[in-house]
Amino acid sequence: MDRIRIVGGAKLEGRIPISGAKNAALPLMIASLLTPYTLTLDNLPRLADVVLLKRILGNHGVEVTVAGKRASQDEFEGDSVRLTAGEIVDTTAPYDLVSRMRASFWVIGPLLARMGEAKVSLPGGCAIGTRPVDFFLDALKALGATIDIEAGYVLSKAPSGGLKGGRITFPKVSVGATHVALMAASLAKGETVIENAAREPEIVDLADCLIKMGAKIEGAGSSTIHIQGVPSLSGARHSVLPDRIETGTYAMAVAMTGGDITLEGARRDLLGSAFDVLEEAGVTVEVTNDGVRVGRNGAGLRPMNVTTEPFPGFPTDLQAQLMALACRAEGSSKITETIFENRFMHVQELARFGAKIHIDGRTATIEGVDTLKGAPVMATDLRASVSLVIAGLVAEGETIVNRVYHLDRGFERLEAKLSRCGATIERLTG
Ligand code: UD1
Repeated sequence: MDRIRIVGGAKLEGRIPISGAKNAALPLMIASLLTPYTLTLDNLPRLADVVLLKRILGNHGVEVTVAGKRASQDEFEGDSVRLTAGEIVDTTAPYDLVSRMRASFWVIGPLLARMGEAKVSLPGGCAIGTRPVDFFLDALKALGATIDIEAGYVLSKAPSGGLKGGRITFPKVSVGATHVALMAASLAKGETVIENAAREPEIVDLADCLIKMGAKIEGAGSSTIHIQGVPSLSGARHSVLPDRIETGTYAMAVAMTGGDITLEGARRDLLGSAFDVLEEAGVTVEVTNDGVRVGRNGAGLRPMNVTTEPFPGFPTDLQAQLMALACRAEGSSKITETIFENRFMHVQELARFGAKIHIDGRTATIEGVDTLKGAPVMATDLRASVSLVIAGLVAEGETIVNRVYHLDRGFERLEAKLSRCGATIERLTG
């Protein structure tokens, strides 16, 4: 099993290209199920989750072809991928595939809308909480579907004339349920209104792509989305937006080590309040022609008081990284997690570096320390694992991060991107 070895202490200087967003790539790929025509996605990141989703979509009959590399293509430039669901050959998404990635559950929306039925295993994914699917099922019921749960599978059926537009009011903001409602409602008859919709940039990216495919959607990016269903959708070409979580992660890495990094292709507007938090802590952030430049020179970090919230609030997917950073602040910081109930698993691993963190319910209090010391640590989930890398970059001596397959789900060649900016970091294979 691969591990990552880091020797801490080097400042980060240079340029890091930001890949296409995993959390946009996945729903965009799933949208290919809505049409028999080809959906071409550019800037697709090379990630384990993308590879797994290609297999899952292939199981339903989607033909996936990756364009050959152009001679001029930068090694970090994303792939161009053609997805064609000419015929859906299977409306069942089996346990052995869905249990490995929660987002694959989302195929239920397009399969049900296009084929009138779908049988999808209840999902798995990162162990960061119970993560139920009740909002998804209520949304599909609001569009006229009948739902049964049998032997770990959700059996869904549309009424005889197909899904019908309806009013969907989410009790709590859910990114995945909003994606599914958008896709299903695009092919439903009549108007659908989604209330308390997620406002994340990835929702807007999916809606933009669906609109290119012929969907009639208004209000994506706000809490209320209106969709006029259309009988069919066409193919389209769409470029995946840059990964805001990767952007924030590398911004925190340079905040941790000191130095000066340009995050190529990054967009500040996608980060919501996250860059504000870094600026308040003493990090400089500058929007440039080709991305966002982040630096910290000399000065210590001020302590932080942050609560995770749906977009545009501080993202839960950057909470673990911020906690690593808070370990080096001059004073006591507080981080409150409100999205997932079990998302502090990195705390015990950060403690191996000498971090002083106390958890009380949903709030962690972090006492800044002068030095962190390298240690063997274990990745527990995708975002937690990268917080250990950030700690390792500044820790004295050697850090070994075990179970890096978590990292490979969401960070494209992290060790290559960091080492070319001066970090001592390498992958140990086998
Ligand atoms: C997505 C992101 C994930 C991010 C999360 C929150 C992808 C592939 N994943 O996950 O990286 O951390 O948004 O920004 O885009 N909930 C229910 N019932 C449901 C659905 C959700 O109670 O049917 C709850 C969840 O347990 C959680 C909250 O709603 O407490 C938000 O979850 P949600 O936004 O749905 O997360 P995901 O879409 O799974």
